[in-house]
Amino acid sequence: MVPIVVRADGGRPLYRQLYDALRAAILDGRLARGHRLPSTRHLAVQLGVSRNTVLGAFDQLLAEGYLEGRVGSGTRVALALPDEAKHAAASGPTAAALAARSGRRGPSRRGLLLAATPVSVARRLPDRPFRAGVPDLAAFPFDVWSRLWARRWRRPPHALLDYADPAGYLPLREAIAGYLAHARAVRCEPQQVLIVSGSQQALDVAARVLLDPSDQVWVEDPGYGGARGAFIAAGAQVVPVPVTSAGLDVEAGRALAPAARLAYVTPSHQFPLGVAMPLGRRLALLEWARGADAWIVEDDYDSEYRYANRPLAALQGLDDDGRVVYVGSFSKVLFPGLRLGYLVVPKDLVAACAAARALVDRHPPTLDQVVLADFIAEHHFERHLHRMRALYAERQAALVAAAQQHLAGLLEVPPADTGMHLVGWLPGGVPGDGSDRRAAECAWAAGVEVQPLAAYTWGTPVRPGLVLGYAAVGPDDIRQGVHHLAQALGSRPMPRRRRGAC
Ligand SMILES: Cc1ncc(COP(=O)(O)O)c(C=O)c1O
Repeated sequence: MVPIVVRADGGRPLYRQLYDALRAAILDGRLARGHRLPSTRHLAVQLGVSRNTVLGAFDQLLAEGYLEGRVGSGTRVALALPDEAKHAAASGPTAAALAARSGRRGPSRRGLLLAATPVSVARRLPDRPFRAGVPDLAAFPFDVWSRLWARRWRRPPHALLDYADPAGYLPLREAIAGYLAHARAVRCEPQQVLIVSGSQQALDVAARVLLDPSDQVWVEDPGYGGARGAFIAAGAQVVPVPVTSAGLDVEAGRALAPAARLAYVTPSHQFPLGVAMPLGRRLALLEWARGADAWIVEDDYDSEYRYANRPLAALQGLDDDGRVVYVGSFSKVLFPGLRLGYLVVPKDLVAACAAARALVDRHPPTLDQVVLADFIAEHHFERHLHRMRALYAERQAALVAAAQQHLAGLLEVPPADTGMHLVGWLPGGVPGDGSDRRAAECAWAAGVEVQPLAAYTWGTPVRPGLVLGYAAVGPDDIRQGVHHLAQALGSRPMPRRRRGAC
């Protein structure tokens, strides 16, 4: 076995530290494919941790396809690694491993931290139901987009080809400020809107501008890994705060880290549970931020898709104190490959955020921004949203109906009034028992992609459930996917067994 150190004061749960260390060793080839791992009991003794810690790490690696095997017959590094691993392995051994082999100095502490921060990339083929987080790419109006694009490209003025403002193309910033004011009750002037490369860059900029190393940050648990990663990469200490049916539990946050410097929330549609934060809790969060002199980052990633009533107004609009940084994305409303999003910041942060962005990649690609500004100004954006809202509402209804018919007793799938995914609840499981990971594995073997809720948790065990994305799945595939899911869940091993074949 490769040397592994896990530390109780390592800032992350022990099982997670072990998972990260084993995954990194598999990816950089220190643990070869087919290599047999020691038994969980033996490894637990060797590392001085509980056997449950080792089982937690092994379960996750098994669910993600890095390991294969069963209790009793031994666990090995998978012979065929999952797509994500192949992708990472193709880029060769890690910088740290190469440096160790050559005897020269490796990356900086920050470099090692970055290398160890989990990065989410498209892991699996996109054509399986019910991959979450993707819009229906085929429904995008390519003809309109390419017409707008061609019109601008015919004779582009030099200003569109030269270096540009790191904060973004002003007409696009104006269009976004106008849209946010009427659709989300966000209060801002166009100068406060910065165009970024998707919400991920918004989170990175916010983290680097607002946090110092070791500052504490509240993140929702379960929650969004992309945000957690951005805060870890900025050197912050992430504090997972439980989520209740009213969103992030402010009282729990106060008890865990009263002097945190920042809170990250998805108040309009909590990711992944889908709950909305009611007004009372929003006010409590703002009150804490005022008392603690802290920032709030509001990630409003998919609330355009609200099927009943008007969308809930953004938290930013309630803030009289300039503490809320608002993050939005075109990944869900247009397509993720566009890599355009926005950050709305208090006026006194504009210059620092623009500089933080400029130091990474100068400015967003101008032509993409110009075409998007035209797309909004000429009302194509509004029309597209309107069409997608109707399409996704139909798909959600089809998923709920198919689940009622075929998944009764296996998975309870309640409808939701916002978003692009639903959470299905597994009956009989207890929080943290891993049954959702095993169910997701069985579903994958049956041709269906669902994410276990456990994959989004970092400290608080959550009731076992599955995340089902429906936006990119047509009605026939929804029905067929549910049928396959029913077969997979129906033949799944009993919850008491820790692992086993589907
Ligand atoms: C909570 C959350 N925020 C933001 C995003 C969008 O990220 P980006 O704009 O970087 O594509 C996602 C995508 O899955 C998400 O789940």
